[in-house]
Amino acid sequence: MSTMIKTVRALGVSLAATIAVAVASPAFAAGEGPHIPREQWSFAGPFGTFDKAQLQRGFKVYREVCASCHGLKFVAFRNLAQPGGPGFTEDQAKAIAAEYTVQDGPNDDGDMFERPAVLADRFPSPFPNEQAARAANGGAYPPDFSLIAKARAAHRGFPWFIFDAFTQYNEQGPDYVHALLVSYDEEVPEGVTVPAGQHYNPAFMAGSFIGMAKPISDEQVEYTDGTPMTVDQYARDVSAFLMWAAEPHLEERKKMGFRVMIFLIVFASMLYFTKKKLWRNVEH
Ligand code: HEC
Repeated sequence: MSTMIKTVRALGVSLAATIAVAVASPAFAAGEGPHIPREQWSFAGPFGTFDKAQLQRGFKVYREVCASCHGLKFVAFRNLAQPGGPGFTEDQAKAIAAEYTVQDGPNDDGDMFERPAVLADRFPSPFPNEQAARAANGGAYPPDFSLIAKARAAHRGFPWFIFDAFTQYNEQGPDYVHALLVSYDEEVPEGVTVPAGQHYNPAFMAGSFIGMAKPISDEQVEYTDGTPMTVDQYARDVSAFLMWAAEPHLEERKKMGFRVMIFLIVFASMLYFTKKKLWRNVEH
């Protein structure tokens, strides 16, 4: 018994030592890719929830600015009115859907036809196919936005991803989208030449040159609730919206996680006291 305890202890000590060395070593600490600052998000942490007003503003930014190049093909109009989302009423979501045209068919004559979208439809993509999207964007492909806030979340090098599991840091995606949008005005370092058709953006993961021109500037989208109309604020709002689009059940998941933790704590203490009771008259 005691050898087992010793082994477990030795393992624990060596694990702690490994982590300590990894943290101390600057080669690891830098992580991979550009440095993306951490922002504050209402949906961070175990009790995080989306700020409905922010999601609605972010949706406005998406619709008025980003939607001309970036699709949202896995999000349906009905999702806009679902609990845990931007909180549009069903009528509002219907009205939004009706502004879009989708292809349907074939009809009885075998022809495809166009009609206004309904709640069950998904957001139509701005380009018919990838080739058309590239042709319109100087060869670069504007990725679909349905999962972008999750897809761009993976680049936290060792050892950060270990700590992230404990600190519940899950907002790398929105942090990245925000950083990308606010980093266009950074000066090009001396000696660096920006290739034709590219734009300098030190936050861009795939190298500092991006095929997307600065998409948004101050005052471009009208906010009626007094929120500042700045690039920084637009970037925050659209990033929050994209987080919701990528994980529409985030609030539900967090609530469920909390309930499960409570259950496990109660269950574990019940087990403990049961064990104590059962063994109380046994020599051990
Ligand atoms: C005129 C078209 C256009 C508009 C408008 C536009 N984008 Fe882009 N976007 C692109 C293109 C093209 C790329 C691909 C760039 C590349 O791979 O070099 C891109 C890439 C991106 C990426 C992915 C970067 C990566 O790491 O791969 C994000 C995030 C993004 N855009 C956010 C936005 C947001 C948010 C808006 C609205 C505020 C927006 N874009 C508006 C054309 C556009």
